[in-house]
Order: sequence, then C-alpha cells, then structure tokens
Amino acid sequence: MEEKKALLERIRELKKQRNAVILAHNYQTGEIQDIADFVGDSFELSRIASQSAADVIVFCGVTFMAETAAILAPDKVVLLPEISAGCPLADMVTAKALQEKKARHKGAAVVTYINSPAEVKAQSDICVTSSNALRVVDSLDADEILFVPDMNLGSFVAGQTKKKIILWHGYCPTHHHVTLQDLLAAREAHSDAVVMVHPECRPEVVKAADYVFSTGGMIKFARDTSFKKIIVGTETGLLHRLEKENPEKQFFALSRRLFCPNMKLTTLEKVRRALETMEPRITVLLPVRELARKPLERMLAVA
Ligand code: 13P
Repeated sequence: MEEKKALLERIRELKKQRNAVILAHNYQTGEIQDIADFVGDSFELSRIASQSAADVIVFCGVTFMAETAAILAPDKVVLLPEISAGCPLADMVTAKALQEKKARHKGAAVVTYINSPAEVKAQSDICVTSSNALRVVDSLDADEILFVPDMNLGSFVAGQTKKKIILWHGYCPTHHHVTLQDLLAAREAHSDAVVMVHPECRPEVVKAADYVFSTGGMIKFARDTSFKKIIVGTETGLLHRLEKENPEKQFFALSRRLFCPNMKLTTLEKVRRALETMEPRITVLLPVRELARKPLERMLAVA
C-alpha cells in the first residue's frame, strides 16, 4: 500500500517535471485509468493527442494508438510504456497487401480503421474509428469503399450505407471470438438487462444486441440511459469506468473471453520507468508520417 502510494507520487512528480500528459484507452487496467489525465476511446484520444499542450505523451494503450499520437503531434515525445503491446487486428493488414488490393479496385476510396499500421494509413484516403465510421463513409464522394482491416466493423457500416463496401478479412480476436450463444446466455442470466456491443463483434452478435457503440459511445449511453442493468459486449476493462461513473447501475460482461492481453501489459511501474528514461519512444519517420497524417486529419475534420 505504502509502496503503491510512493509509486503514484513519483509518477505525479515525473509528469510535472517532464510536462507530460497520460492518455489511457478505456481497456486499460483500473489503476492505469485512475492515474491518467484522460481516459477515452480511440477517437477521443487521437483528438486530445493532436491538441495537447504537453511536451510528452505517455500513451497507455497499444502500438497503433501511440503511432497515431506521434503522427498527429510530431513535435512531442510519445512514450508507449510497454513496447510489445501490439494489436493483432492492426497486424492483419500490411502496406504491400493493401497496395495489391487497391490495384484490383481502382475506383474505390480506401477507408482505414485507426487500428492499423502507419504505413497502411499512409496509403489510405481517410481513417475512421468505431465511433465515426458510418458518418465518415457517408461523407465521401466515392460509391465504392475498400474498408480496411476490420471486416466486422465494415459489415456494420455496409448494413447502414448505400455505398458498396469491399471488406478486408481482418478482425479483433477479442471481439470476434464472442458468439451469439454467449450473448443469448448473458441475456438469460440477466433477463432484465439491455445489451450493448462493440461493432468489432461478429454481425450475428451485433444484430442480436440492443445497442451498438464504440467504447466512448458506451460510456455516454450508460450515463444517459434510465436502464439500470447493462450487459457489456466489449473488452472488460471498460467495466472499471462504467462502474466508477455509474455506481447506481449494474454492468455485466457479455463474456469472460472479452479480454485483450495487450491492453493489460501496461503497469504503474512501466509508466514510471517510461517517464524516468523517456523510453520506449514511438516515432513515425518521414515520408510515412506526413502521408499518414492526411487521412487522420481528414477524419478529424469530418467527425
Ligand atoms: P474504441 O474506438 O471504441 O475505443 O475501440 C478501440 C478498439 O481498439 C476496440 O478494440
């Protein structure tokens, strides 16, 4: 206990010394969320990174998130406390594979989910997050969209837009492994609860849910709704914030398998070490950085 208090104090001290801001994704552990200056979804954190007055951004999340911050705030030092915290979904697309697919769909606009490598963003027309994907797609002139790399989010958008969506065969293993049976079992266990799921879930899971939101959308819904019991179909890290902000409501994980091991690699010790050593540092080199900035900024301008 004393040790933890001293650790938290040291982080606070270092943060001040370095003029650093700590950003944490909604899936981080409770103790990381509690020391962060901002906790949010991918879109909210990108916007904060692009506008922050800090010299240093400690990104408690996964590689593509820290890369996005480095692209949008190239004059800042971006630290990722655990360098091996990757995103298997982002790894399901490469610049080379995208180039090949683009050659087969020449008229299509390339819409790339923020969960992707910088080199892939660099070849894209515009980026999206789960909170703005439909709005961004509908804002484009092109009638044909190559949607990269999440096929479940792509299908969710395809079901609501008039545009033709060409899917990429990528998925988030954490969300994709949730089944319709899991959802039905959760409904049976909590028959008076409503179900909200993330659009990275399979189409049949999305169809059977009452609501579909990004993690930021879930936070807002939970705050505004009069429902008192909610089944949560996304990574279980979100429950920390939901419970903290809504003590009068009850939240149930849709499945215990909704666990992202990469998001749980960040610890308080690693945050302290990152601030002390200013490592591991995430940089995106030119020309990729400039090329990847355009689709991200286009997205920020739309949504
Ligand atoms: P959000 O943008 O909803 O936070 O989702 C990010 C993510 O990586 C989901 O797996």
